Amino acid sequence: MCGIVGYVGDKHKAQDVLLKGLKMLEYRGYDSCGVAMIADDEVFLERVEGRVSALEKKISGKKFNNILNGIAHTRWATHGLPSEANAHPHTDCDGDIVVVHNGIIENYIELKEGLKGHTFKSETDTEVIVHLIEENVKKLMKKDMGKRSEMLEPLFFEAFLNTLRKLKGSFAIAVIWKKAPGMILAARRFSPLVIGKGEGENFLASDVAGFIEWTKNVYFVDDNEVVFLDKNNVAFFNLDGKKINKELKTVNWDIKMAEKGGYKHFMLKEIFEQEMGFENTLMGRVLPVGKYILGNEMNLKEDDIKKFSMINFVACGTAYHAAYIGRYLFERMGMRADVDLASEFSSRSLVVDKNSLVVAISQSGETADTIDALRIAKKNGNKILAITNTLGSTITREADYVMYTHCGPEIAVASTKAFTSQLAALYVLALSFSYIRGNLLITKAREFAEELLSLAKLIKESLEINDYVEELADKFSAQDDYLFIGRGINYPVALEGALKLKEISYLHAEGYAAGEMKHGPIAIITNGMPVIVIATSSSDIDLVRGNIEETRARGGVVVAVVDKNSKQKIRADYYLEVPYASECFMPVLNIIPLQLFAYWTAVRRGTDIDKPRNLAKSVTVK
Ligand code: M6R
Repeated sequence: MCGIVGYVGDKHKAQDVLLKGLKMLEYRGYDSCGVAMIADDEVFLERVEGRVSALEKKISGKKFNNILNGIAHTRWATHGLPSEANAHPHTDCDGDIVVVHNGIIENYIELKEGLKGHTFKSETDTEVIVHLIEENVKKLMKKDMGKRSEMLEPLFFEAFLNTLRKLKGSFAIAVIWKKAPGMILAARRFSPLVIGKGEGENFLASDVAGFIEWTKNVYFVDDNEVVFLDKNNVAFFNLDGKKINKELKTVNWDIKMAEKGGYKHFMLKEIFEQEMGFENTLMGRVLPVGKYILGNEMNLKEDDIKKFSMINFVACGTAYHAAYIGRYLFERMGMRADVDLASEFSSRSLVVDKNSLVVAISQSGETADTIDALRIAKKNGNKILAITNTLGSTITREADYVMYTHCGPEIAVASTKAFTSQLAALYVLALSFSYIRGNLLITKAREFAEELLSLAKLIKESLEINDYVEELADKFSAQDDYLFIGRGINYPVALEGALKLKEISYLHAEGYAAGEMKHGPIAIITNGMPVIVIATSSSDIDLVRGNIEETRARGGVVVAVVDKNSKQKIRADYYLEVPYASECFMPVLNIIPLQLFAYWTAVRRGTDIDKPRNLAKSVTVK
């Protein structure tokens, strides 16, 4: 997840608009940034590793006259480490065409191979876009034999369209060309892009925050739409170059709201970004190419995968709950697996088999306990695979293999979208490991992959429950104690539901394995106590039904997370219905109403949701 901004016009100083826009979008990524403007028939380009303030410092004092247009970018690295060379904007071989991009170009390796004779200056997937435009411009110029030399704008537009048709993956792109000054071309597929309409000036950005200071009149760009902007006009097209009409809307957001995409808190925004995070993490990794294959970005050889004796997961907090689900998943798919709290790892007399693959999961990649566990395992002779959201983090430097989740920066302390994107990574790993090790036949692997690829849509459907969960949270607002229970692969979901409620509402919430209730916790159930039960379809549903009845008999108020099939089998006081999927995929959907429940309960209690007391986003001390 990165932020892009664009400006065309002469009412304001372009550098001021672009830098301000970048600052507003820094929450989308901030490991490096850059700006490019066309002034006096020259391209001015400046990039830095670090935050927008560093870029501002670098260009302060420089005078720019006659700026016609500019684009800028703040980066959250996905391909290529955070560095000046990998920072956007990127240019073609001559430095005349300039691009910024948010998203992932899935087929960039294949495209790069076809771009013979081009000089690439970065490790990014993005750079391929600008060289492709260059290639297409050259081809069209050759075809035209100079006929259109007076009218380069249409040629630029055509070259851009030809390029877009070749791209697979997700993108919000903005591009400028020295030879077609005074205009910007932009396009969107699966990554956000909005256009701000001004008077004698126009804007673009990843979200309204990027230009809210200058205009509140907005066009929301849809997937596969292309935009032409100059200072007086904005026009929309489809990928065939056919004009589209779009409605201009007015937003009444203030700057703070705009930064959070109109949501009141980052946490809610991030809950709603889970479809994107899940999809982006699968992107390029599970491909329907005759058979489903795993993109082998980790350099993990098939022979090594066959040799690992088992998997040992280590992680903390929410990442630990994802790891716990990973354990169930690997076991179900025929591979031994175990899970440890990273903070407990050093206290154990180590029994981890040397041939086991240790998988360390951490959103930040900087959690001291997880890094410590990783080092202990390394010393023990284990190979380490890190699953993380943060390129260049400590964990990525120390692990043997790295698998990135691609959900963009998570700002709220309570982890939500990182959790579901960690699950996406675990599904890919479990699928590929069990297929390579011969535990899964190709037909089964295909079925698994097909269902996996359909899950992002179901995440979106699950989020439709938001209004109902808000009402429900209201009903329980006077309650101080909550119990969350689940069985099997849904037990960690119960743990995660309780953790979410605890950390942002400061209420007492316990997560338990449903079968353990009768061994103690059932004693705390009193009349009216809310018990949240994960009761979606599973091989254990009859046992879960028994636990629900035991709870009801003691006066507990049962809130059951169900799907359409399991709903008929159980009696609850309230139902939180999520879409149906195979049992192993249900944690991704079941967690959504629980995240929302925690959020709305905390809203009622008036806590500091994005920065709850006593907590930090990244725990870098042991
Ligand atoms: O960055 P990490 O994934 O390593 O963080 C691990 C935990 O500190 C983190 O998940 C924490 O539990 C969250 N605040 C939970 O919402």
